Amino acid sequence: PVAVPAPMAPTFGELTRFEVKDALVVPREYRYEVVVAWGDRVFADPADHFGYNNDFTAFLPLGADDSEGLLWVNHEYVSEKPWLDTYNSVIGKPLPGEAVLRTQAGSLDDEQKRALAKAVLYEQGGSIVHLRRDPSGRYQVVKGSKYNRRVSGIEGLDKPERLLDADGPAATVLAAGKDGLGKRIVGTFANCSGGVTPWGTVLSCEENFQSQVPDAVDSRGVPVPAKVGFDPASFGDFAGAALGLAPNKYGWVVEIDPRRPEAVPVKRTALGRFRHENVAVRAVEGKPLACYMGDDRTGGHTWKFVSRNPYRAAAGAAGSALLAEGTLYIARYRPDGTGEWVPLVLATPVDPADPTHVAGGRVLLPNRPAGGPVAVDTPEQAAAFKERYKTLADLYESEGAMLIDAFLAANAVGGTPTARPEDLEIHPTDGSVFIAYTSGAASPEGGPDDRIFVTAFKSEDKRDKPPHGAIYRLFEEANDPAALRFRWKTFANSGEIAAGGAGFAFPDNLCFDSQANLWICSDIGNQNQPVPNRTNARASATSGLFGSNTLWFMATDGAKAGTALPFATGPVECELTGPTFTNDGRTLFLAVQHPGEGGGWRKNGATRPETEYELLSADGKRTFVQTRSIPAGSN
Ligand code: FEO
Ligand code: CA
Ligand code: CA
Ligand code: CA
Repeated sequence: PVAVPAPMAPTFGELTRFEVKDALVVPREYRYEVVVAWGDRVFADPADHFGYNNDFTAFLPLGADDSEGLLWVNHEYVSEKPWLDTYNSVIGKPLPGEAVLRTQAGSLDDEQKRALAKAVLYEQGGSIVHLRRDPSGRYQVVKGSKYNRRVSGIEGLDKPERLLDADGPAATVLAAGKDGLGKRIVGTFANCSGGVTPWGTVLSCEENFQSQVPDAVDSRGVPVPAKVGFDPASFGDFAGAALGLAPNKYGWVVEIDPRRPEAVPVKRTALGRFRHENVAVRAVEGKPLACYMGDDRTGGHTWKFVSRNPYRAAAGAAGSALLAEGTLYIARYRPDGTGEWVPLVLATPVDPADPTHVAGGRVLLPNRPAGGPVAVDTPEQAAAFKERYKTLADLYESEGAMLIDAFLAANAVGGTPTARPEDLEIHPTDGSVFIAYTSGAASPEGGPDDRIFVTAFKSEDKRDKPPHGAIYRLFEEANDPAALRFRWKTFANSGEIAAGGAGFAFPDNLCFDSQANLWICSDIGNQNQPVPNRTNARASATSGLFGSNTLWFMATDGAKAGTALPFATGPVECELTGPTFTNDGRTLFLAVQHPGEGGGWRKNGATRPETEYELLSADGKRTFVQTRSIPAGSN
């Protein structure tokens, strides 16, 4: 991650220059400094290093101001080729099985597989680094601090005292597994985004865990057999199998207390098991705590956990108990701009969505008795399922089993399939919930309800247009975090301004600054990035404006609400992630994830086709004029 020190909340029209190049670029009025990077050895144990592919960041001050604090950083996954190519030089030792992986000749032996699995999983999870701000405003890691530590994907594998823990309704199911660890858990991995609680802990979200352990379970929540093994061409796949990890112990929200190095991180199973993107916590004194969450997969759901007991600020760290007990809800959107929260409890009636309203024409439902999903493609099949199973109690033996299979259980009760919810954030003054639906595309797993997510397709002509995503805004009834009804509307559409969009595409991470400006990281995908000679480069012109991924900001209220301005762009094939402001608004932390993941500009023998734009502002509208283009080959 980097830090951008400056007064934040820039004025519209203030930013004057914008460049596109294979680097992190911030406006000329700003600068950035690298805080810590992959491979840095800043931890108490000299064998530890800072992990790979940073995503979420959280800054927790240690004192009354922001001059000193703890930075939590998620490590999501490894980008295989750049990781393999640079591992030895950065980490200072060869990667296990490196020759086999490079040449794809032969296969790894069991010992190599296990060593490689450990290396892959070690890079994931998260890091805590103690930072101090010097008089120039620069944050630096406090080397040797007792707070600096890793919580990796293999945490506890060799040191049982460092195993993670689990609580909530699924903990007993996890404890009955075959790994011999009870409810204790080896590590956390696939940590995408997250959240911060009012009592000062971090919530880190396990997202694409299915790339390393199978996700299918039966009616007891017990994993069902799936293809496992190493494909040398994709060496992260099912790394968990090589280490005997229990698949149902991943896909959760894990709570970590960076201020207490001795505290064991806990997976909060009451919040469900799905491809967790992030958690937005809404804490209103005397009301139940609400945690808003997204399941980032095609047709994934929008979720809310409501604690059983009310939030009391005076309880401090005891607030963690709120995450152990409560009700998990799935959003059911209605086309008229209203919606309701459907409880995921065993008594909830089975009522799956009609697949004819779903992009891709498919809904996945729990397959009984085999376990895993079964695809439903017609209204008749959906009706037959509803006829056969009356409530979730006919599909799951326990509440814990249902929570372990939360995505399919939500499909069974008719939660609205949505357009891949990435980040959700709560407006700092009015409590409304902003949701980045990153893409309306369908997949063989289904897609979003096309009556609700028509804007995520950019136009009415939804099946033909690029599914660029949109930002939705949700208002709880009576502004109550525990409300069972809500209103929703599209806040901003992605896509070109000329086509009625706000300019950004594929919104992913969000955050608010102290002026209630919304900051938006785009994630247009490597396939859409402007690598010379890439045949679909046209896609980048329509989906990213600047090609590389961009950090945008926009006002959320007033005359200029919804007008997006670009603030920063990242290196080619990166994603800017984890934007976090310090409380004083003087610094923005930002992570630069997976630069050059697909081979970068050099892949096709081209050098840097950089472009400089001038940003003009007139009547609150923005125009970009290309002022200079540096041809490829001229460096
Ligand atoms: Fe890891 Fe949905 O982003
Ligand atoms: Ca990411
Ligand atoms: Ca994301
Ligand atoms: Ca994304």
